[in-house]
Amino acid sequence: MATTGTEAPHLGGNPLLGSMLDLKKDSLGTFLRARREHGDVVKMTAGPPGIRATFYGVFSAEGAQQVLAGESANFRKDNAFYQEIRESFGNGLLTSQDEDYLRQRRLVQPLFTKRRVDGYAGAVAAEVTTLIGEWQDGAAETVDVLHEMTRLALRAVARILFGTDVDAAVEIVERCFPELGAYVLRRGYSPVKFPRDWPTPGNRKAAAVHQALYEVCDRIIADRRGSGRASGEGDDLLTLLVEAESAEDGSFDATELREQVLVFLLAGHETTATSLGFALHLLARHPEVLKRTHEEVDRVLGGRTPGAADLDALPYLTQVLKEAMRLFPAAPAVGRRAVDATVIGGVTIPAGADVIVASWVTHRHPDYWEDPERFDPDRFTPEAEAARPRYAWYPFGGGPRACIGQHFSMLESVIALAMILQKYGLEAVDTEVPVGSAITLTQEGPARCRLIPRTA
Ligand code: HEM
Repeated sequence: MATTGTEAPHLGGNPLLGSMLDLKKDSLGTFLRARREHGDVVKMTAGPPGIRATFYGVFSAEGAQQVLAGESANFRKDNAFYQEIRESFGNGLLTSQDEDYLRQRRLVQPLFTKRRVDGYAGAVAAEVTTLIGEWQDGAAETVDVLHEMTRLALRAVARILFGTDVDAAVEIVERCFPELGAYVLRRGYSPVKFPRDWPTPGNRKAAAVHQALYEVCDRIIADRRGSGRASGEGDDLLTLLVEAESAEDGSFDATELREQVLVFLLAGHETTATSLGFALHLLARHPEVLKRTHEEVDRVLGGRTPGAADLDALPYLTQVLKEAMRLFPAAPAVGRRAVDATVIGGVTIPAGADVIVASWVTHRHPDYWEDPERFDPDRFTPEAEAARPRYAWYPFGGGPRACIGQHFSMLESVIALAMILQKYGLEAVDTEVPVGSAITLTQEGPARCRLIPRTA
């Protein structure tokens, strides 16, 4: 591992606060500007000299690969953001490290093999049928697709992983996750943080939101304990977790059980909802792509409900989804901390430095994407994909900490899109949907589409 390169260019910004205000207002836009003005590895600072937070934005495909995969042991989830996420969401699979992490991953991995995930297709289809039924009963003409896909993805993850329905909690989850995400982001960029237990308005609000989410998790766990359901009856995630908690060795306690449920609720729904919602929004804005997708869905499925075996037969629909995830990656930036000094793209990353790898920027990098803001699913034909560096597109991260739910999410999204397109044409009401970034991509304005029933 080389340790000396050139000094990183600095984004500069306000002499007193560095880029703090820009980052708090529009972190994704600030990262794009940093790459445009200074290149693929850029130093950024936030806060007054002496106590300012410093971190390095990494924007090239090669740099992302180095941090996430090639040198993953040197880039740990010890950075300011992961510390904040851990404080807010606990020590679950997304945030844990070392022995805890290996034990947790071994426990849940069997639920995410391709064979197991293929088995979730029927439950996903059932949830989509329920949602479409609700649209039909309510004679829905215009819906906010991001909102609707959040409901769908939350119900699907609750049904499949926790064997329960969370309809009563949809409102709480939809309100609380973004609030807690914004709190994490604010603290992540703040050079000085009040301890979390000080009664500041921000801390109090976060504590209330936190409590509400824990109550949702506790209810899910209590329902299962009260159900008398024995293990072996198609074990789901909750069965595995509850059993691990009752195991004699004490390696897994009630707090960890609750934190795992919380992490899977968070990581398992909002991300898929973002991909699905933006895929629908982009289809609604591009009638020629919508027409081609309708043709494929009709040709392959006729009126039949799709299953896991149909995924390979819907390549254009998959390309649409991948292109939607390029433009709107649900986790637009992830952070790490370098243990030892290293060099990325010729630039020195000092030991102990925080690094942000931003798929939001790599996915728009002009070296890999021509006219990057244009929506064009043909960028994902097998030939076009083979011609690009492996990490030009990495919505699911990469290396040993890549997303465990990646197949789950692709299956859910393709089935849901196919079923919605079997029934509806789409017209965009909102032609642009402003976004922001907390832990995940956030919706900052409506994403309304008109649903136009298709005649058989
Ligand atoms: C489009 C949908 C999704 C996207 C874009 C996405 C994105 C990501 C990314 C980028 C990471 C890596 C974070 C890092 O490197 O710091 C990650 C990890 C993770 N995701 Fe996803 N995710 C999606 C769906 C899901 C689903 C459906 C689940 C669960 C059912 C899930 C559960 C997790 C978990 C538990 C981790 C941590 C894995 C580990 O470290 O071993 N995700 N996800």
